[in-house]
Amino acid sequence: MTDPVGPSVNVNAGTGWPSRVLEREEIERIVAQYGDAAVRAREAGYDGMELHAAHGYMLLGSFLCPVRNRREDEYTGATVEGRTRLLLRVIRHIKERAGADFPITLRISGNEDAFDGRELNDTQLIAPLLEQAGIDAFQVSGGVSHDKIVAQIVCGSQYRDGYNVAVAAAVRKVVNVPVMVVGRIHHRHSPRRSSPTATPTWWRWRDRCSRTRSCPRKCSADARTRSAAACRARTASTRC
Ligand SMILES: Cc1cc2nc3c(=O)[nH]c(=O)nc-3n(C[C@H](O)[C@H](O)[C@H](O)COP(=O)(O)O)c2cc1C
Repeated sequence: MTDPVGPSVNVNAGTGWPSRVLEREEIERIVAQYGDAAVRAREAGYDGMELHAAHGYMLLGSFLCPVRNRREDEYTGATVEGRTRLLLRVIRHIKERAGADFPITLRISGNEDAFDGRELNDTQLIAPLLEQAGIDAFQVSGGVSHDKIVAQIVCGSQYRDGYNVAVAAAVRKVVNVPVMVVGRIHHRHSPRRSSPTATPTWWRWRDRCSRTRSCPRKCSADARTRSAAACRARTASTRC
């Protein structure tokens, strides 16, 4: 098994294993390997490929993620240029090797929704650069996984329906390619009626009562939307 590697030392929330910092020469090899993989996929008959740069914890996503990318070289997470450099290089290299007509979609967090994480305005800044480099469609997810924080990625019922829709609509405004969206899509959603600022953030939700219909005290919907502490005080239930 190879070592877990990344832009910086980050501890995997699941395994507790730290990643090893990638050397620049290793990054060169990885860019080349993405090209090789795309050629193999095309030769095997695939119509295109999807790059995963969402949620901050896989290689491309972790370079894009300021809380995980603490490098100080040209790949630094502290600047837009630095954190997008690897992803842009990979996209261009895939297009060079597999052909400009080999479609690439990109899974990206529109909003990482974490302290010091990337926000929507950052995605709006970088999406046109990614499109220019060759991205043919975006798939907007949300959230980030860092240390023990896993926000929005696995979206339970505490998130409202279509919670990434407004963010995806805002990304669509700055690019000319299709934008897809995931996350509790249970109905048709109108991007016009969704506001990105109305998206619940993990820190607004983390202290909320997690019980819904199973509440033994039959908390009202109103009580459930209060903090868990307020819900307990109101219902005198220790189980909310
Ligand atoms: C149990 C579970 C595990 C998941 N694991 C991953 C994962 O490893 N990587 C990832 O990008 N998304 C993961 N997701 C997120 C899904 O790919 C998808 O983006 C999310 O479920 C979208 O919400 P939806 O199913 O309501 O559309 C996971 C989701 C669930 C429910």
